Amino acid sequence: MTRRQPLVAANWKMNGALQTVRPLIAGVLAGVADGIPAEVAICPPFVYLPEVGRALQGSRVALGAQNVSEHAAGAHTGEIAAAMLMDLGCKYVIVGHSERRHIYGETNVIVAGKFVSASRAGLIPILCVGEELSDREAGQTEEVVANQLDAVIQAAGIGSFAAAVVAYEPVWAIGTGKVATPDQAQQVHAFIRLRLARHDTGIADRLRILYGGSVKAGNAKELFAMADIDGGLIGGASLQAEEFIGICRAAE
Ligand code: PGA
Repeated sequence: MTRRQPLVAANWKMNGALQTVRPLIAGVLAGVADGIPAEVAICPPFVYLPEVGRALQGSRVALGAQNVSEHAAGAHTGEIAAAMLMDLGCKYVIVGHSERRHIYGETNVIVAGKFVSASRAGLIPILCVGEELSDREAGQTEEVVANQLDAVIQAAGIGSFAAAVVAYEPVWAIGTGKVATPDQAQQVHAFIRLRLARHDTGIADRLRILYGGSVKAGNAKELFAMADIDGGLIGGASLQAEEFIGICRAAE
């Protein structure tokens, strides 16, 4: 079995202020300096990318964005292109977060377009997939996740997953305090890996699949211990340095 370096990525969502960025980053950097085997990334709101990028310079913590346009440039008022994110030193970009899909109507096709534009620019997309509670109750978790994955594989090609990350985030577990059990999460993570292995077993084997949805320092260890869980995408708990570092420490 391939050893995959775990990744713990902070998704600040639409939180923070210029005054809170510095102390939060300082706390994370102090914790990381203590020695953390996992790779750590921080995805702040767009407007704080330069500030956070400067603070992270020379550290082992990577910079990421929360969204990207599917278009390369031009008349797209309010959008941000992948090349702009590269310009600011981003390594990662989250695409297809469930809040983008459900609040802002991003379809599988739009998400695939974003993945492609991120990959082309040299960013590593963190592709979010996950079912809603009604899907799970109807026994359609795998079907939903398969459709989300297949749309991207079709548009981007399996090769682009060599430089991508997938995050499984059951929508019912995001920001609700209702975490998936390690077994529930592992089952879907294994399914995701298998789905990609249909196209390329090597790429599937090396792909990092993160779990997201109410991860806390107190529940991270048992989740990250599962065979196909390679770290986490952390929302609420990433807004407190100590809690976030506790989660990072749980990923070995
Ligand atoms: P949460 O969010 O950790 O606050 O549940 C995770 C996410 O939406 O990425």
